[in-house]
Amino acid sequence: MNQAQPTGDFDGLAALVTGGASGIGAAIAALLRDRGARVAVLDRDPAGAPAGTLLVKADVTSDEAIRNGVAEVVAEFGALHTVVGNAGIGAIGTVEDNSDEEWRRVLDVNVLGLVRTARAALPHLRAAAAERPGAVSITHTCSIAATAGLPQRAAYSASKGAVLALTLAMAADHVRDGIRVNCVNPGTVDTPWVGRLLGRAADPAAERAALEARQPTGRLVSADEVAAAVAYLAGPAAAAVTGTALAVDGGMQGL
Ligand code: NAI
Repeated sequence: MNQAQPTGDFDGLAALVTGGASGIGAAIAALLRDRGARVAVLDRDPAGAPAGTLLVKADVTSDEAIRNGVAEVVAEFGALHTVVGNAGIGAIGTVEDNSDEEWRRVLDVNVLGLVRTARAALPHLRAAAAERPGAVSITHTCSIAATAGLPQRAAYSASKGAVLALTLAMAADHVRDGIRVNCVNPGTVDTPWVGRLLGRAADPAAERAALEARQPTGRLVSADEVAAAVAYLAGPAAAAVTGTALAVDGGMQGL
């Protein structure tokens, strides 16, 4: 995978990818591994994580599980330099459709999951930044739903809007610690998530065509294309980049 990409720019670094057992997270974990990082995948269902990664079974809705998971990763790797907060869930509906309980669930996973991950990781990232200036970062998988009005995605969009604001606030809070914080805003990405969505559609082929047509490039984004953007933001080439949202959306927002 990604053999055309440069390798080695994560040599000696330790990375943690939440939700790294499927789709975008799995592509990120594999790419960071291929570029030289030791990679841990924290996932509630880690079985699908790429080979050669450390599997940590934990749910991001549990503060204790994340703390234990991060401690396990640091015990195994000796340090932590790169955190990718990617675990997320969807919700379909307008504000009239979703119950308070559904809203809380989406915000709990998509927003508080990132907060808990950062809280557990930050002491280790600070220590690592003192030793490897420029090499330490947090990158969130946000969504174009944070900046574009999408129908039937009220709770999901609100959660991703919060992720964008959280990313900017964290970038400001931790810049003096030497920790960069950025996010990627993917459009519709061809992952098992979208497969599940299509599986529930009355006409999956028509639904897929509609999703493809929504992006000016006329196709879905691949998980590897999002992973490449994350590896850029987390890597040494982006040492001057913090507080940025990088859209990987086939032109959906800008065109
Ligand atoms: P996916 O469903 O293929 O993978 C999500 C992974 O997160 C799974 O391995 C799942 O087990 C894990 N996960 C979910 N809830 C968890 C929890 N509570 N604790 C621990 N792990 C948990 O989804 P996909 O498409 O790879 O999405 C990943 C991220 O990308 C999400 O944050 C999503 O919002 C975002 N995204 C996805 C887009 C898409 O079109 N697929 C577009 C824009 C953003």
